[in-house]
Amino acid sequence: MVHDTFITNIPKAELHLHIEGSLEPELMFRLAKRNRISIPFQSVEDVKKAYNFNNLQDFLDIYYAGASVLQTAEDFHDLATAYFARAAADGVTHTEIFFDPQTHTTRGIPFDVVMEGLLSGIAEAKAQHGISVLLIMCFLRHLDEDSAFATFKSAEKWIPHISGVGLDSSELGHPPSKFARVFAAAGSAGLMRVAHAGEEGPPSYVVEALDLLNINRLDHGNRALEDAALTARLAREAMTLTVCPLSNLKLCVVDNLNNHPVNRMLDAGLRVTINSDDPAYFGGYINDNFRALVAAGKVSREDIITLARNSFLGSFLKDEDLATQI
Ligand code: HPA
Ligand code: ZN
Repeated sequence: MVHDTFITNIPKAELHLHIEGSLEPELMFRLAKRNRISIPFQSVEDVKKAYNFNNLQDFLDIYYAGASVLQTAEDFHDLATAYFARAAADGVTHTEIFFDPQTHTTRGIPFDVVMEGLLSGIAEAKAQHGISVLLIMCFLRHLDEDSAFATFKSAEKWIPHISGVGLDSSELGHPPSKFARVFAAAGSAGLMRVAHAGEEGPPSYVVEALDLLNINRLDHGNRALEDAALTARLAREAMTLTVCPLSNLKLCVVDNLNNHPVNRMLDAGLRVTINSDDPAYFGGYINDNFRALVAAGKVSREDIITLARNSFLGSFLKDEDLATQI
């Protein structure tokens, strides 16, 4: 028996969260009004009805459309502070958030506007909730290498505020190899590296992410389980996997939470963590993910302790900061 207060109170880190994916319909409407942007919905219910995607691409089309209401530094600040407050209420003491600069720069929103808004939100959240935050800048893999390099160039003056780079968006047809050079450049600049792989893509994409992108952490990784040698390698290398159960369910990576591989991953000795991915779109924040796994009989109280501990072990906190969290 796992009590809800146990799930809520156990300190945890969230390591797989797209800040644009935390845009709740209510805030989307408020920002659309504030910025006089028209969105193709009449009401919050209308928006929620549109969230009936059943694969990654259908979701991404709606997610990028929703992001169009984000125009000013204040908008990014409001987006970020809403997530930090929600995460803190879930017992999240540390979070490493993804942002997608190209989703905004391709609409004419300057990189600096995004950074100024996020950084002011982070400062406020630290003061209000005592939560610590690191930033991971993701490249959109459906765009080309030149665009990724241009984004990396725009980030130059902000590098001291960015902990790592990531790779997201449409996985199939866009293997990690496409971004080997920009990830090498990011590594040379002292940045950590993560990549979405094995969400919809084959196990070979996970191998590429390890060998060609030199990742420090694997986002999703579900399909790695199809390859026993790869699974053993991930366990041996103590690679952290950022697993997102409700996302997997919504995007039909799993057909039912009863069939979610989290317990097989734990049994294989993988360093699994639980995360919400895009909580405004997938029906829940981090604790909703834990609750859903408990309800499906997938994780025990001991597993939750392991998963929470893994979230700190897999974080990019420096040892002196990590020591204050565990
Ligand atoms: N997968 C890939 N790209 C994304 C996701 C995801 O779950 N969420 C936001 N961008
Ligand atoms: Zn993701």
